[in-house]
Amino acid sequence: MQSVSGRRPFYRIMAMGLVSLLLVGLGAFTVQSGEKIVHPDAVKKARRVLITLDTLDTMDRLPGDLSPLPKVKSPRDNPTTAEKVELGKMLFFDPRLSGNDHWACSTCHNPSLGFSDGLPRSLGFGDEQELDRHTPTVLNIAFNSLQFWDGRAATMEEQAVAPIQAEREMNSNPKKLERKLNAIPEYKERFKKVFGRRVTMENIGKAIAAFERTLVTGDSPFDRYMKGDKNALTVQEKRGLILFISKAGCTQCHNGENLTDNKFHNIGVPPAGPAKDDLGRYNVTKSEVDKRAFKTPSIRNISMTPPYMHNGVLATLDEVVDFYNKGGGDDPNQSPKIFKLGLTRQEKRDLVAFLMTLTGDMPIVSYPQLPQVATLSKR
Ligand code: HEC
Ligand code: HEC
Repeated sequence: MQSVSGRRPFYRIMAMGLVSLLLVGLGAFTVQSGEKIVHPDAVKKARRVLITLDTLDTMDRLPGDLSPLPKVKSPRDNPTTAEKVELGKMLFFDPRLSGNDHWACSTCHNPSLGFSDGLPRSLGFGDEQELDRHTPTVLNIAFNSLQFWDGRAATMEEQAVAPIQAEREMNSNPKKLERKLNAIPEYKERFKKVFGRRVTMENIGKAIAAFERTLVTGDSPFDRYMKGDKNALTVQEKRGLILFISKAGCTQCHNGENLTDNKFHNIGVPPAGPAKDDLGRYNVTKSEVDKRAFKTPSIRNISMTPPYMHNGVLATLDEVVDFYNKGGGDDPNQSPKIFKLGLTRQEKRDLVAFLMTLTGDMPIVSYPQLPQVATLSKR
């Protein structure tokens, strides 16, 4: 099957036939041309195109530029080294990064729960008050172009130091934390070795980010299918994949290697939890169209991290698919890319079966032994 470039003039795309139109309508166009917005009518037309189980297996490129994950790149100012990753791992698991020595990153981003916490909304520092938002996984975040549900952090380095200081998360005073860690000889030494200086907040962020860049999952059944093993998916899962890329319109937003367009959309998720009206991306841009818009999350490994959405309001993947099937919520600001899908009960089951194939091998992370304050005095 021929692939379509988003730069071709429209009349030529039309001439390339209905299946090509589908590619344009459901993702390829959006991904390659950046800001181009798919017109909902084109999407609706493309949804009528039939891909059969036979044609699916012959497609060498899937709509929405779906593809296996590439290798992680580290930024020039924070190259990944084995020692830095080891240090970052210690910091990620160390509760002493919090104001009361009790909350580590791993408390909420728990490796045993897909690096999330299984709660609708996390419990915050101290008195365990519910936070406003659900804890996203930190798996594969190296492929996010912005961090947090509202994208308020541009880099992983910048993101990592935010929860340490956030009053409702780890509640640490940066200066005090630097002093605390510098007083632990092994940390002092390790920072010296990795960064050539004592512990600083900036370097804490860099080390944690380097560790997080190793938290990549691989080889899900879907990845194996894309790499050419046409038996990696069952017939039901393939039916689900066809729905995902056509009738259900999911690749309008969940596209590319990490199944996200890295953009923000209001899909009409109803409010839940302490935040009565979480304005999402609007808080960052103050632009009307961003009201209650949230980042399209990657849905790789999605079976591992229920409940779902920025506020954890949907308990299961069945509920998620029901939600999309009925056309999202009733927010007046809802994206035109969300509309009633008309999926049958069987189709809904097929789609969920496909979503389960996105779970890959988890990175193996052993608990580190943390540096202790007490050392033998030198004689
Ligand atoms: C009290 C629970 C809690 C702790 C502790 C915590 N986080 Fe989070 N984390 C969250 C929540 C909730 C969010 C979503 C917040 C938002 O988007 O506004 C989040 C978001 C993130 C994200 C963004 C992921 C994405 O897909 O956008 C990263 C990365 C992250 N945390 C890493 C860390 C690191 C590193 C630490 C330790 C320094 C840490 N977290 C400590 C709860 C926690
Ligand atoms: C208009 C863009 C768009 C389309 C189309 C779309 N999604 Fe989403 N998806 C999002 C956004 C944005 C969120 C987060 C919304 C929120 O929390 O408010 C999300 C959240 C999800 C989640 C929960 C992820 C998590 O970590 O909690 C799943 C699962 C999901 N989508 C699957 C699908 C499926 C299946 C389809 C097709 C039926 C689909 N999406 C269509 C943008 C989209």
